[in-house]
Amino acid sequence: MGPGRQDNLDPHDGLASHGTFSYRGRVNAIAPLIDSHGRVMRDLRVSVTDRCNFRCLYCLPETEEAARFYRTKFAAAPDATFPRLYRDPVWKPRAEILTFDEIERIVRLAVGLGIEKIRITGGEPLLRRGLEELVARLSRLDGIRDLAMTTNGFHFGSRAEALRKAGLQRVSFSMDSLDPDNFRRMTGRDGLAEVMAALDAARRCGFSPIKVNAVIIRGLNDHEIPALARFAHERRLALRFIEFMPLDSGHAWQRELVVPVREILSTLQSEFDLVPVPSAHHSSETARRWSFADGEGEIGIIAPVTEPFCGHCNRLRLTADGKIRTCLFSVVEHDLRSWVRGGAGDGELEDGLRRVVLGKELGHRIGQADFAQPERTMSCIGG
Ligand code: 5AD
Ligand code: SF4
Repeated sequence: MGPGRQDNLDPHDGLASHGTFSYRGRVNAIAPLIDSHGRVMRDLRVSVTDRCNFRCLYCLPETEEAARFYRTKFAAAPDATFPRLYRDPVWKPRAEILTFDEIERIVRLAVGLGIEKIRITGGEPLLRRGLEELVARLSRLDGIRDLAMTTNGFHFGSRAEALRKAGLQRVSFSMDSLDPDNFRRMTGRDGLAEVMAALDAARRCGFSPIKVNAVIIRGLNDHEIPALARFAHERRLALRFIEFMPLDSGHAWQRELVVPVREILSTLQSEFDLVPVPSAHHSSETARRWSFADGEGEIGIIAPVTEPFCGHCNRLRLTADGKIRTCLFSVVEHDLRSWVRGGAGDGELEDGLRRVVLGKELGHRIGQADFAQPERTMSCIGG
């Protein structure tokens, strides 16, 4: 099923029709993307495919094992709230996915409007054929200060060198467990050895820092918090513990499964000597960070559920099928693709982007009575 509402980005709609631009000789051609709460957008996450070769329990929980886990959690729940689990994901047809030309054009325009950081995501971005070519094309654009990618790592090892040569600067891996059985339980795939090899390849090819994301779910991998931290210390990694967010395809998220940042932190502090890393220069950062006392490796905690950071969010997302999302939890998407394919000029697209950004949500409403989980999962939205 598709997303919730859609905005077709009609250039003659809304603000654009009130004379904020004229097609030729635009006065505000370099005005940054600023929202109605004063936040300036600097970060664009570009999903290049909605497909994935993993079935993470917090994203695409479509394995029998995931269903079993959630079933124990839902045992007491009435049928009506029973999650939709264990079905085959429905991928977008290829024709709906943006081409490299379309992605490059959108990124070039966004960078002209002040976007400095580009993160390539998926689904699993390495399932997109020829990704190295896209990386090379984006890395040649003037104005990008940071070109990064988030991957599950399974196919990274063999492509690390080509990606590095193409101009990829940084990489983040998902790795939620150091135990092969638990890794399979969490990701639906026997892939721990491949991800370990990917970390080594990233090091060999000079990626730095190397980030690792671990989504923590109560009763599943919360007992691995100290081991994951120790691993980050030994391997000099930047590890991010992430609170489980309601973005899974089964809509099976429950508050009780979230391990709050406070709890993660006290577990870590009882075992490690952690020194806070000040983040004054990175006010849009989502992670609170600590280094180990000897300076090797780093821990961060991302707490979107218990300590939201929406107030300084500077991110936009472009889905693989060309929709702009102004928040992970947006229930409205803006159909940039139909506009691009309908022949819009650069100026029209820029003004469309500005108008979309003006409507960026103040923040998500997880935990509020009116919270609605977006129809699309992280695998479509891009992490
Ligand atoms: N909650 C928290 N993090 C998630 N990710 C994917 N789904 C969720 C979720 N429901 C994270 C994964 C991946 C990144 C792209 O997003 O850790 O590394
Ligand atoms: Fe897991 Fe990422 Fe694939 Fe989702 S998109 S199933 S989080 S590897």
